[in-house]
Amino acid sequence: MRILVINGPNLNLLGQREPDVYGAVSLAEIEARLARRAAALGVASLVCRQSNHEGELVTWIQEAPGQCDGLILNPAAYTHTSVAVRDALAAVHLPCIEVHLSNTHAREAFRHVSLTAPLCLGQIQGLGPLGYELALEALVNTLNRPQK
Ligand code: DQA
Repeated sequence: MRILVINGPNLNLLGQREPDVYGAVSLAEIEARLARRAAALGVASLVCRQSNHEGELVTWIQEAPGQCDGLILNPAAYTHTSVAVRDALAAVHLPCIEVHLSNTHAREAFRHVSLTAPLCLGQIQGLGPLGYELALEALVNTLNRPQK
């Protein structure tokens, strides 16, 4: 089983960026925790990527079929604005779980809408870095389930 984790803009600054909202854990640490969890769950390949560029996120999603079996995606600010990221998800038909560190529903009104969530199996938010590990567990569980 191969899983691709994609993080969007400004998430490279985790640990320094608004720690009251996003916590003190860096993206590198989140990725290290995910790698350990993936190994424990028997995931053959876990690739983690981050970009500040919308088009790069679109390209990675487009290229994902054939390279991975499922996606974990935190589109960050593009969650609320990007028709392009949403359309890329609609094009690829890969199981995807959306993650947000913060509870976007408890924040500004412009964060209450996710353009991407309707294309995902589910969404986990407000649980900090743990959300990524829970998403991985959910994705592995889904992919291991016999197809209907
Ligand atoms: C975020 C929430 C978004 O609203 C915000 O733009 C981010 C991070 C989160 O993980 O909580 O950059 O996706």
